[in-house]
Amino acid sequence: MPATDGRYTLGVNIGFHDASAAVLRDGALVTLVEQEKVGRRKHALGQTPADAVTACLRSAGISADSLAGVAIGWDISRTKLAEHRRFGPAGLRRLLFPDAPPAEMPPVSWIPHHLAHAASAYYSCGEDDVAIVVIDGAGESQCTSIAHGRDGRIEILRELPIHQSLGFFYASASKWAGLGEWGAGKLMGLSAYGRPSHDVPLRPTPDGYALLVPGVDHTPDPNVFALSFTPEYENAVRSAFSCHYPYAERTGEEAMSYADFAASVQLAVEESVLSLAAEARRLTGARTLVLAGGVGMNCTMIGRLSRSALYDRVYVPPVPTDVGVSLGAALVEAAGQDSFHPVRMDHAYWSTELDDVAAAVSKAGLVSRSLPGTDLAATVAEALAAGRVVAWARGRGEVGQRALGTRSLLADPRDRRIWERLNIVKGREMWRPIAPSVLAEHVGDLFVDTVGDGADFMLEVGTVRPDVRVRMPATTHVDGSARPQRVSRTTNPVYWELIDQFRRRTGLPAVANTSLNLAGEPIVHSSQDAVSTFVRAPGIDLLVLDDLVVTRSETDLERTVELSSAAH
Ligand SMILES: [Fe+2]
Repeated sequence: MPATDGRYTLGVNIGFHDASAAVLRDGALVTLVEQEKVGRRKHALGQTPADAVTACLRSAGISADSLAGVAIGWDISRTKLAEHRRFGPAGLRRLLFPDAPPAEMPPVSWIPHHLAHAASAYYSCGEDDVAIVVIDGAGESQCTSIAHGRDGRIEILRELPIHQSLGFFYASASKWAGLGEWGAGKLMGLSAYGRPSHDVPLRPTPDGYALLVPGVDHTPDPNVFALSFTPEYENAVRSAFSCHYPYAERTGEEAMSYADFAASVQLAVEESVLSLAAEARRLTGARTLVLAGGVGMNCTMIGRLSRSALYDRVYVPPVPTDVGVSLGAALVEAAGQDSFHPVRMDHAYWSTELDDVAAAVSKAGLVSRSLPGTDLAATVAEALAAGRVVAWARGRGEVGQRALGTRSLLADPRDRRIWERLNIVKGREMWRPIAPSVLAEHVGDLFVDTVGDGADFMLEVGTVRPDVRVRMPATTHVDGSARPQRVSRTTNPVYWELIDQFRRRTGLPAVANTSLNLAGEPIVHSSQDAVSTFVRAPGIDLLVLDDLVVTRSETDLERTVELSSAAH
């Protein structure tokens, strides 16, 4: 290993979906890249994290030879996979570094999946003594874990077996409602339209929860991954859904018929997780709760937890899904070193910079003008206030499934029709909600309750003040809720400035923000992706790429910039 200015660890998720890579220097996160965004395939199904590894190393300015260790967010040592050549040192060297392999494969650590999830939340929360709850589909042989993070170490206190999987339960319910394999977020959105009137086979218990599905039992086989249990589980749990209206799995267009079902499933999950969180409080005595695992994406549930008074603080990292186990595995590996200095995650901008913006614009035959930050913010604020839809791609991309103002599609939240327009631009269902990005200083002006730290990563739902609902109808959900992003002046100054400029023009300290991508595509990653999205979506009026304002014609460019100058 050549001499470098620190000890570098590479973490990867080479699991079944959501492959990713993260590079740490002395335990501090340097870069995290999701394979789905660089590989342009949702959830990176069937993909290795090789492209993400390449992007991470390039961004960190190191080669694979600089790595002191590689950590993987699954422990296959107890399965037959461990014997596979692909997972030996030579196989992994080829799998992870196909283009520029290191002279020698660095030492490899296989980190238990839930420990990696737990570490991603614990070591990034900025506190030492916390309760940790991990809830996902399945780890190697568990689906839910309670742990105590203290003195820099993680102690797993309780694990629930796979047949109690809340992740599988929610995914099965989403499929039943016709929302697809990855429809959990849609089911949560749909639940706001319904009343929880159905009986579902999930109950909170004094020490957590119980899934009571006849025929569902599972004894983990140490030779195979728990995920192989999914089809058996789904068959059993879905038959339990068929005793409620509309009695059959959805195959058509009538999503709203499943709203009461969605609300019932959502409520049962919320009650169960609240009970589990209370148990974690009893077991650890900690005043802060950190959560990870895919179920941590359920921002309605996070909002309830945050308001429940069970804990002083509820923290979820921006990558609670399997994307985050690259980070978590690397943190576990690095935590054993004297040089370990993890960073508190107070922002999500850990992906890579945009590349060759000017070249991407001219290659597509578009025109642009470079504007300094304040003028850029003023120009875009003016465009938004005039009803234009703006693609906003600047600097290092955010990690996770929420666009947080570096790869976002923005609009005016005061106009209800904007909600419909944004869904048309993106080619998605008309009932899907759009969220607001709110100046951190003004969150209390717009929301009834205190909104917790989950709002830093748009992972927590809050209740919009009744008088504000009519002022931002495009970003208030049917039940009066919204999923705000709390925008900090420190961590994204130009985005903050843009919203502040919008506030000065309109009186509203918020813009409508949805992810910059079209239906079925991952959030844009590169300049090329952003330009391609703009070119293919005529409903997007303006593109911002770093400091460039980009339009389709000179006339439009002149008009856009002049409009802003006139308003100054
Ligand atoms: Fe997971």
